[in-house]
Amino acid sequence: MSQLTIRGGSCLGGETEIQGAKNSVLPILAATLLTAGQVELRGCPRLRDVDASIHILRDLGCTARWEGENVLLVDTRNLNGCAVSERLMREMRSSAIFLGAILARCGQAELSYPGGCELGPRPIDLHLSGLRDLGAEIDDAGGVLHCKAPCLQGREIVLSLPSVGATENLMLAACGADGVTTISNAAREPEIVDLQQFLTACGAKVSGAGTSTVSVEGGKPLHGCTYTVMPDRIVTATYLCAAASAGGEIFLQGAREAHLSTVTAVLREAGCSIRSEERGMACVCRDRLTAVRPVRTAPYPGFPTDAQAILMAALLRSRGATVFEENLFASRYRHVDELARMGADIRVSGRVAVVTGIKTLHGAPVRCTDLRGGAALCVAALAAEGETSVREIGHIDRGYEDIAGDLRRLGAEIVRTGD
Ligand code: UD1
Repeated sequence: MSQLTIRGGSCLGGETEIQGAKNSVLPILAATLLTAGQVELRGCPRLRDVDASIHILRDLGCTARWEGENVLLVDTRNLNGCAVSERLMREMRSSAIFLGAILARCGQAELSYPGGCELGPRPIDLHLSGLRDLGAEIDDAGGVLHCKAPCLQGREIVLSLPSVGATENLMLAACGADGVTTISNAAREPEIVDLQQFLTACGAKVSGAGTSTVSVEGGKPLHGCTYTVMPDRIVTATYLCAAASAGGEIFLQGAREAHLSTVTAVLREAGCSIRSEERGMACVCRDRLTAVRPVRTAPYPGFPTDAQAILMAALLRSRGATVFEENLFASRYRHVDELARMGADIRVSGRVAVVTGIKTLHGAPVRCTDLRGGAALCVAALAAEGETSVREIGHIDRGYEDIAGDLRRLGAEIVRTGD
């Protein structure tokens, strides 16, 4: 069994490069199906979820091969299927994103229901009702989604909440629909802007990403392109929190502050000094952090739910108490019991968690409960006296290309064993 062993208690110092964004590359890989051509994706992170997407693409008759460290060549010209097996759907939580793209390209799709995940129920009702609005017939009996849409028709879709996945799925389906689709109350995440830029590079007519209204003029034939995936803002937040937790001075090449200003605002309030340069971001933390005003997760541009656990880990040794309110997912405090093994003082009541800073954390054997919760354990371990072993790191591999290598380059004592 693979595990990370971290010896904490000393300051960080060093530089590393930020990987491409997981949440960008997954919808972009689904979007390659809309092109009948070859796509060269640069800055493509090597992640378990990317491998799962590659398996789905290959199963559908496409080719995908790595050329160099982070360049993925995808060729979707020979697509010959429209069904994704349950086994492949289960490999990745966000596989529902393939629905819109397959439907747009083939006029039909068959996928098993993605079901719940470690963060609680993961409904896709908004994806399905939006696709029905575009004219798809969807039968979801028996855990399998049978979708038919010989001719998708563009129209206005109003999302009842700004779901990232639903916005992306509908953008992809709308590329294959006749006429104009407008998605109102769309999610505004930077990854949606990245998807729009990719689609535009392929010849699609998409506008408005980053605002609450996204428009797609469908029916244009799309071609292949060469595209570079944006840097991962949650990985950036993780390493900023690592420096905040352990102290020290780090530089993150390629990091962009514009994508995570709510996180940097909180870290500055806690006492970190963060500077943005053209080449990336620098972070210096010299003193014990102070507690901050309540942190409430919200859709972008609010505080990201994906950064909640890692910020919590950074504040475990702060002066004072910080209140967290998790507003997106039902089960997003599962890391708390693991952090408690290291001595953390956290009280959870429903969607609220109160972190009271303590002077010393101690190393302990802990296990990952989910992707960002796992990263949070690493952030806490860097500040803990002694050794922490982090098990069940397969969760971390879903979203971090090489967390051990990155943290080592940033000056941490961390080794990965058991692969
Ligand atoms: C994406 C991100 C994930 C992040 C989340 C919120 C990817 C691959 N994943 O997930 O890392 O934590 O955004 O920023 O990009 N909902 C419904 N019905 C739906 C869809 C969603 O009720 O049909 C609810 C969800 O239960 C959740 C909220 O909407 O409470 C937000 O979910 P959504 O924005 O869809 O998240 P994902 O796209 O799944």
